[in-house]
Amino acid sequence: MRERWTSRPLFIFAAIGSAIGLGNVWRFPYLTYEYGGGAFLIPWIVCLIFMGIPWMMMEFGLGRYFQRGAPGVFEGIGKKWEWLGWWPVWVAFLLVTYYTVVIAWSLRYAISSLTVAWGTGEAGASGAGAFFFEHILKLSDGPGVLGAPVWATLFCLAFIWVILFFIMYKGAKVIGRVSVWLVCIPWVLLAVLLIRGITLPGAVDGLNYYLTPNLAALADPEVWFAAFSQIAFTLSLGMAGMIAYASFIAKKADVTNNAFITSFSNCATSFFAGFAVFSTVGFIMQALNVPVGEVSAAGLGLAFVSYPVAISMMPGANAVIGVLFFLCLFFLGITSAYFLAYGGVIIPLMDKFGLGRVKATAIVCAIAFTIGILYTTSGGLYWLDIMDRTVSFYGLLITGALACIVVGWVYGARKLREHLNATSDIKVGAWWDWLIKVVVPAALIFVVIYGGFMKDIAAPYEGYPLWAASMIWVILLATLGLSFWLQAIKTRTAKGGE
Ligand code: TRP
Repeated sequence: MRERWTSRPLFIFAAIGSAIGLGNVWRFPYLTYEYGGGAFLIPWIVCLIFMGIPWMMMEFGLGRYFQRGAPGVFEGIGKKWEWLGWWPVWVAFLLVTYYTVVIAWSLRYAISSLTVAWGTGEAGASGAGAFFFEHILKLSDGPGVLGAPVWATLFCLAFIWVILFFIMYKGAKVIGRVSVWLVCIPWVLLAVLLIRGITLPGAVDGLNYYLTPNLAALADPEVWFAAFSQIAFTLSLGMAGMIAYASFIAKKADVTNNAFITSFSNCATSFFAGFAVFSTVGFIMQALNVPVGEVSAAGLGLAFVSYPVAISMMPGANAVIGVLFFLCLFFLGITSAYFLAYGGVIIPLMDKFGLGRVKATAIVCAIAFTIGILYTTSGGLYWLDIMDRTVSFYGLLITGALACIVVGWVYGARKLREHLNATSDIKVGAWWDWLIKVVVPAALIFVVIYGGFMKDIAAPYEGYPLWAASMIWVILLATLGLSFWLQAIKTRTAKGGE
């Protein structure tokens, strides 16, 4: 018998837990910030409704129908498609190797917050950047200079993998129960941070920036590319995970409504987190007397530099707010990490090789931790960035496009829709078939070509040396090759044996 969620809410919480992650509190606000504040919200919502939700319904439907992880699903569609189920498994695996490192930084920050180690007042405002790059990362000069691992980060990383092992080795029963807590705690923490944020002086300016749409930005295709890839990332699509989670749903349960609930809860959380972060950005602007656009917020900076700056300048309770914010990141990250590792990697391995759960979990944790050591070195941030481009942009979008095409045209979108509708609360119409067959894959391919290839071929990604930036293509091709190799291996057992 396949393992099962013990109840519907447990599945929903597990799915929400996987979707809500670092992406909501760290990636969403900085993208919004970078792409013109309120203007970003419009393409973001359009992409959510027309692409994210239909795509999630597809993943849920496939998992539930075939009752297998991603490789099993594509093998079920046709023997020659099994590789298409393995490719996202590699993508998920590589993602979790560095995602856990970002969680490790959050943990270190939560600890450093106890004493507001980067300093308060003036010292904190000017020292937060140095604290992140010199103290936490010990950043080297380039991807060619790795140096030694930063021991504190490495230690936190090991600790995180131990926690993950204990959550995962008993399977869906424990995961479901743990998720309820790990989803609710960050919600409470975010509410506290929100109240703190909006009661700070200057908060209104930040919120105005967040909510006032600058319609001219909608004409910029970059904004749309960013919105679409953020939706795919934040809903945890295209990485085999949702398929595996849905494979533990009983055959006659609802699918479409669960997809709505999961997607909306996730995006509501992002929207909500935006208030907490932007009110705080407004406060920094006012306190440092700079216009909105000048608060350093590029990439990682928003969570690990700007937010600490704000904490250092708050009138009181600095340590408490710091601890809450970084614990929030920590909890959010953990739910997504076990989901990636379990649904994305462990379940497919168990399905294919008939491994026991404890053994499969131990192997995956050990190997992922070992690869993670790379990102804890002084040059680690560069590799984290390159790997992020490889998997959470190219890997996710390319495998997602291929999956939609194969499901839409080979398996048949209509067949899957009828299957979804047979047991679901909400019935989807024929429009869904065309979203899956044409709109979603076309949009994905467009983003990959115009938002990615054209730029990364014209000039190495982010100005890294050519050999380092080329690793993007090497890794993509290598994982594709490995996926074909896995397809060629005979499946050991059909019973999930244990
Ligand atoms: N959705 C997660 C976040 O917002 C990250 C993520 C992307 C993920 N793809 C995933 C998590 C696949 C689990 C599985 O942070």
